[in-house]
Amino acid sequence: MYYCMLRSLNNNGKNLIRLVKASVCQTPCDTSSKLCIVCHSTHSTVSSSLRPITHVLRRHWTHQTTSYRCVGSTVRTKPMPSAFPVIDGGFQPVHKHVYEANLRNSLICQQKYLEHKQKVLKGGGENAIARHTQRNQKVLVRDRLRMLLDDENYLELSPFAGDGLPYGDIPSAGCLTGIGQINGLWCVFIANDATVKGGTAYPITVKKQLRAQDVAMQNRLPCVYLVDSGGAFLPLQSEIFPDKNQGGRTFYNEAVMSAMKIPQVAVVCGSCTAGGAYVPTMAEEAVIVHRIGTIFLGGPPLVKAATGEEVTPEDLGGARLHSEVSGCVDHFATVESEAYEYTRNIISTLNFELPEESSIQSAEPLHSSEDLLGLAPRSYNYSLDVRLIVSRLTDGSRFQEFKARYGTTLVTGFAKIEGHQVGIVANNGELTYDASLKGSHFVQLCEQRDMPLIFLQNTSPAPSHTFSQAKAESNTNRLKAQGSMMSAVACASVPKITVVIGGCHGSDSYAMCGRAFDPNFLFLWPNAKVSILAPGHSQALMQTEEEITQINEMLEEESSAFFSTGRLWDDGVILPQDTRQVLGKCLKIIKQQVYQLSRERMRTPILRL
Ligand code: COA
Repeated sequence: MYYCMLRSLNNNGKNLIRLVKASVCQTPCDTSSKLCIVCHSTHSTVSSSLRPITHVLRRHWTHQTTSYRCVGSTVRTKPMPSAFPVIDGGFQPVHKHVYEANLRNSLICQQKYLEHKQKVLKGGGENAIARHTQRNQKVLVRDRLRMLLDDENYLELSPFAGDGLPYGDIPSAGCLTGIGQINGLWCVFIANDATVKGGTAYPITVKKQLRAQDVAMQNRLPCVYLVDSGGAFLPLQSEIFPDKNQGGRTFYNEAVMSAMKIPQVAVVCGSCTAGGAYVPTMAEEAVIVHRIGTIFLGGPPLVKAATGEEVTPEDLGGARLHSEVSGCVDHFATVESEAYEYTRNIISTLNFELPEESSIQSAEPLHSSEDLLGLAPRSYNYSLDVRLIVSRLTDGSRFQEFKARYGTTLVTGFAKIEGHQVGIVANNGELTYDASLKGSHFVQLCEQRDMPLIFLQNTSPAPSHTFSQAKAESNTNRLKAQGSMMSAVACASVPKITVVIGGCHGSDSYAMCGRAFDPNFLFLWPNAKVSILAPGHSQALMQTEEEITQINEMLEEESSAFFSTGRLWDDGVILPQDTRQVLGKCLKIIKQQVYQLSRERMRTPILRL
């Protein structure tokens, strides 16, 4: 079943959009599309002023290794009324000491978060900033985003990626990525920070760019590249160039995204050398800034070495050359601010029709989001009832719990977050046999109802070991049930967002939609721990005291949320008190795809001939 948007004009000449049920036409009548849709309610009686304007909302999108999920097969013009019960979010006095211990830990974690934030704002440091702005006369990357985006209400992805890597600290991985609005349309941005080693691509930079492209594909978001890069960071070329998910993948993705009708625009606001030269030339439209932007495969030093000829960067591959002679770019901007104006105009030519600003008022939770600092567990043993967390995230603290009395170590149910209906799956203890069966059931319900899933992950610190026959049987059953839940989660085509609120350990984390299960977004709270076993739980697996100490020390260091996010195993660390706002934004972003009017046909990419 499909849904078709129909547009008609009312008596005042205003557009009226209607959504009607549709199915695939048995006798193809529209040869220009691979899939002809018949609108049920109007096919036989279509009036001349009523015409289908899109073939939208196909339920399952698959393209090679990435799956594209539609928010739902229905766009409701009016949400159904719901009066889910308010859940009890009050603390028991007996939990006071746990709350206080968590709070102390959260405040330390929050301080670390703020320090990281301050650090990345400095980019490549004072000297590099001076070189960038004074000698090279370029605008800093965050100021570029200010000119490009409608406002500063954007979702930055993995800002702390690149921190603490074996090859050094690479602030923000040398490249800012995120999702912001341009003329009201959510777009992914990928913007090099040339104050970090001339914007060169380290392995982590490549990983971050690929993840941003993945986000664009998964959520069908237009993508804008602000290119200012010296190409590959040569000392690490073996980790950047040869493999599948390395440098070349960026260009491969550009072609595939274009074929999928995901629009891409590049702004050349610095150097695009060697491989980097393909970013603008493979984008659907490109803008270049005079005197600042250059595109070439080999720069002036290479020309000199090869031919002995001295040539300026401007003559070799500057804005005039590429906009007047080579045609590698489509728009010539005299200054940077003009380039972002061009880009904003290009975005307004994309075929999207956005809904009126929602008039739905979503009720705030009944409890303060600051309480989440005392609920974020400092370790698994300090976890309180997860409903206390749910009650601080959902509209009006309302929650329609599903199977409340069965498999109680997993809490499942329906709620709204900033007006978006979601299914919530939250750990409340070990993921037992019953809990896993319940999880599978609930995930399938959400799939059936086209409802996004939110996973609140806090998994048990270590696997349950087999010390008796009874335990062996129980573990085997649990294994089967967890396998089923993993299958249900992996194959659910609805959007999924995971927030690691405590532990992310072992196989339970897969069933709870960990990174490998490809959620649309995955965030960590700063207290989160990510490792196969939690620190302090390796005794049963190690022989000697020395080995146990060594492994625990390693786990302690490697399981921290900042270690994880530095390596881009997630989409960023978020503060617990910001979670509702981040989830609301993600849900809005995911939903935007239903407003793209032209997207059904798979085509070849746009070729710059
Ligand atoms: N690999 C490794 N380091 C590089 C680099 C590269 N491809 N390109 C630049 N750097 C380093 C520079 O050595 C310098 O390091 P430092 O700060 O420790 O001195 C830093 O990045 C900034 O470069 P610099 O040349 O001083 O800055 P700039 O603003 O004048 O110029 C570029 C920036 C990118 C235009 C210029 O560095 C350049 O042309 N680099 C070579 C590009 C290239 O040929 N790439 C091919 C990659 S396959």
